[in-house]
Amino acid sequence: MEVKNKIILALDVLSMDQARELLDEISDYLDTIKIGYPLVLAEGLEAVTQVKEEYQCKIITDFKVADIPATNQKIANVTFQAGADALIVHGFVGPDSVASCVESAEKQGKEVFLLTEMSHPGASQFLQPVSMDIAHMGVEMGIQNYVGPSTRLDRLEKIRSIIGKDSFLISPGVGTQGGDPKDTLKFADALIIGRSIYLAPDPVESLESIIDSIEF
Ligand code: C5P
Repeated sequence: MEVKNKIILALDVLSMDQARELLDEISDYLDTIKIGYPLVLAEGLEAVTQVKEEYQCKIITDFKVADIPATNQKIANVTFQAGADALIVHGFVGPDSVASCVESAEKQGKEVFLLTEMSHPGASQFLQPVSMDIAHMGVEMGIQNYVGPSTRLDRLEKIRSIIGKDSFLISPGVGTQGGDPKDTLKFADALIIGRSIYLAPDPVESLESIIDSIEF
């Protein structure tokens, strides 16, 4: 996946009005937007369809899908039918659950991102001990796209070494959670950034300063 300016906006706002107000200002800088539970639970899955159509962007849906294979497949089918280009799926549920999402994606010409390790402090308790195993599982399954934390660069580097240089790795945790944009891009292909942009007094200024900071 190509990502303009290497920045994926985490659109964790709670209404389409807020989403449009933000995107009217900053959509020229972006071509990939991540939509998760906050906006979809507030406004319905149509939010995915609407944002994609109105802003002509790729949508990564962050539903951190983590159910049995049959249920995962239904979630993936409905999400892709709504217009999502890609879906973030938890790896800890095991290969059969992940494979059901991959199968749905392949049938519809869409993509799956495998979540290895989350970026928040609590991820160290249960997820961290298995996150490298999840990355290995993804490689064995032939998965191309991964999510890994910008808040622990040593771990991100390790994930990159497992998945290889040709896999596509996106990384949340930049800004508000403490991750550094430029350092993260030593290992990741694109950054996922939410609050540092949508809570900034001037989102355009915030985005421009992040883009300036990552230009090599
Ligand atoms: O606001 P902030 O920039 O911290 O947003 C990060 C986004 O990435 C949120 O939507 C969060 O749910 C998501 N995320 C994360 N860590 C992961 C996977 C997704 O922070 N491992």
